[in-house]
Amino acid sequence: MNVLVIGNGGREHAILLALKKSKRVEKLYCMKGNAGTAEIAENVDVDYMNAEAVKKFALEHPEIDYYVVAPDDPLAIGIVDELESVGKRCFGPRKNAAIIEASKAFSKNLMHKYGIPTAEARTFDDYDKALSYVREKGAPLVLKADGLALGKGVLICDTLKQAEEGLKEIMLDKSFGQAGNVVVIEEKMQGLKYNPGEEVSVLAFTDGKAIVPMITSCDHKRAGDGDEGLNTGGMGTFSPCPFWTEELEKEVLEKIMIPTMNAMNAEGRTFKGCLYFGLMRTDKGMKVVEYNSRFGDPETQVVLPMLKTDLLDIFEAVTDERLSDIKIEWESGACVCVVLASGGYPLSYAKGKEITVGDLGDAVLVHAGTALKDGKLVTNGGRVLGVVAKGKNLEEARLKAYNAAENVSWENMHYRKDIGIKYRKG
Ligand code: AMP
Ligand code: GLY
Repeated sequence: MNVLVIGNGGREHAILLALKKSKRVEKLYCMKGNAGTAEIAENVDVDYMNAEAVKKFALEHPEIDYYVVAPDDPLAIGIVDELESVGKRCFGPRKNAAIIEASKAFSKNLMHKYGIPTAEARTFDDYDKALSYVREKGAPLVLKADGLALGKGVLICDTLKQAEEGLKEIMLDKSFGQAGNVVVIEEKMQGLKYNPGEEVSVLAFTDGKAIVPMITSCDHKRAGDGDEGLNTGGMGTFSPCPFWTEELEKEVLEKIMIPTMNAMNAEGRTFKGCLYFGLMRTDKGMKVVEYNSRFGDPETQVVLPMLKTDLLDIFEAVTDERLSDIKIEWESGACVCVVLASGGYPLSYAKGKEITVGDLGDAVLVHAGTALKDGKLVTNGGRVLGVVAKGKNLEEARLKAYNAAENVSWENMHYRKDIGIKYRKG
């Protein structure tokens, strides 16, 4: 089969690397891709946020059998629906199901309506009413812009002043654009051991009939060591999550995953694809922090390398609604991804810096913001590369990833030195 993956980042490169292992894949394509995807796939220069352009491309390329829509933005505007309308088979939820990520107000209402454990919350589209509620509740509070905001539309407010300022920023100043027309105001959940809490990302395949969790992973969202500094798209991940147990998996399946799948079916919004559960372990059990309608980035970079089963077989089983027929197997051991970022990220940073790559051992470079310029590998984004290494345990995987990271460089490159350490002793 010829398969096209939509997206430009590390997640998409990781999906392509996993698909490349499939015996049934003949040729891979990436729309639009980066320098890493170009090594294993043909990069296609089409704007995937332009539905007409994507449909035109699909009609002109009957040789491409299957499409994987990986990022949240094209899912939210219904690129899967568009591709299906011209007879293409896809992996990814339709627009009416992708709303589970695209609107936090929708997902909050869904969880409340169906009794899925999450933080208590109220939704407002009126600034004055929202402000009265904030004052009535007092700090701490969590404010969330309703729509997609590059993972940045969440403000944790520990004082009333922060909450008042945050509300103004979201609803009046529109710092997150139209995403802030509606705001969700939540209780701040307390994690069991750490502040802001023990969090775990659990991605799951679902075809609307069955839901199968993948191995777990943990993200590091802040820019600096010790979880200091600004929020980013993710500075590194590791898998599996050290506090995960069979009992937790059972609890999450019974109380969160299956109820979510059933709730989406009951709403007439069957979700088919990868459903991402951002979870927190609290003293009242596991609770949902957020849903994403897609593979996580950089979670995918540590989850898919551990997959033993053919990824294309799983994708097609989801499309054809026969996921329960497939046995999905994982390697034991651990995997770590250290993100190498441009100096300045997540604020402003330079692009076009030449990257030198030395000995990586058996670590793998997953490309995010890279490009080729005059035949040379250069930086082309904030998060540039992920150094991914597997090991028999977390410590070995970490050492391999960091040894490799030391042999990659460009002007002002920076990375966190503590990926995977937070939980080491815990
Ligand atoms: P999100 O973009 O929804 O994943 O939120 C970003 C981060 O904010 C999460 O990973 C949590 O660490 C934190 N967070 C979000 N909602 C809450 C909440 N209700 N209570 C505590 N922390 C939260
Ligand atoms: N790593 C978090 C996300 O993909 O949203």
